[in-house]
Amino acid sequence: MISTQSADKTLNIKGQDFLTLADYSPEVIKGLLKKAAQLKEAHLMGETAPLLQGKVLGMIFEKSSTRTRVSFEAGMLQLGGHALYLNSQDLQLGRGESIADTAKVLSQYVDAIMIRTFSHDKIEELAHHATIPVINGLTDQYHPCQALADLLTIQEMKGTFEGQNLVYVGDGNNVAHSLMIAAAKMGVNITIACPDGYEPDPAILKLSKEFAEQNGAEVKVSHTPEEAVKDADAIYTDVWTSMGQEAENEKRLNDFALYQVNEYLVQYAKKDFVFLHCLPAHRGEEVTAGVIDGSNSAVFQQAGNRLHVQKAILSEIL
Ligand code: CP
Ligand code: NVA
Repeated sequence: MISTQSADKTLNIKGQDFLTLADYSPEVIKGLLKKAAQLKEAHLMGETAPLLQGKVLGMIFEKSSTRTRVSFEAGMLQLGGHALYLNSQDLQLGRGESIADTAKVLSQYVDAIMIRTFSHDKIEELAHHATIPVINGLTDQYHPCQALADLLTIQEMKGTFEGQNLVYVGDGNNVAHSLMIAAAKMGVNITIACPDGYEPDPAILKLSKEFAEQNGAEVKVSHTPEEAVKDADAIYTDVWTSMGQEAENEKRLNDFALYQVNEYLVQYAKKDFVFLHCLPAHRGEEVTAGVIDGSNSAVFQQAGNRLHVQKAILSEIL
């Protein structure tokens, strides 16, 4: 029987929001990863972990989703609870009811809210007015659940964070922001290789550099993908056009053309590099089929890990 019952005493995060990993210490992140690994092992052994019996998660979606929606819903069910899919267009929120009123009402019906939305201000407003924990299922600024799954995957593939070189090639977007913070907190060196004008948010870059310094790692930005990828242990990419940016698609295809993760670029990495992508992927744009479907790719293991890290988050904050 895998021990999933007792929460790690050092975590102590009951009732907290999960909006960005910047709010979480390296010790707590490590604790969540440990819990996720235990839950994963138990799940693979066919054991149940009814840690959230009778608990309900409300899931508000303002953008499309496959992984986030299904892994949160399945995760709640596996923990003995229930999840409600709430499309914002079907809620009164879609007809102008305020975020504050929505937060106050939902706080009386459910035990936590997961939301996928556009501006990060909106999730902060929701969290401010809610009396229950709020989980970020992606904003324009951050994707912390994804970053936690990314860390678990790196840990599984490489066995350690120490001295690892992670290179993110592409847009300095929500996924890049959360990855930078996650890497910096765990002492993983990270380089963001992006075209001019697509750098990460300067404030988040500065914050990540501070975290990296505290944890003996480095955060860099590069405009030379070949140089950035040199000696990489892991290469990560994401779509060039995120949800909400569809009007810029043509321009972005042009601007990112030299930033494709392909067979030529990965030659510069270590032989045993791991390829990561949060998915959904566009083969032939940010990555070639040869790389994402090749033997170095761990993208489906990474997607699977969303389930386990989110179960860890849910069972610790609820
Ligand atoms: N990676 C991720 O969040 O996927 P979805 O958009 O399918 O939820
Ligand atoms: N950067 C992407 C991630 C999707 C999971 C987006 O925001 O659309």
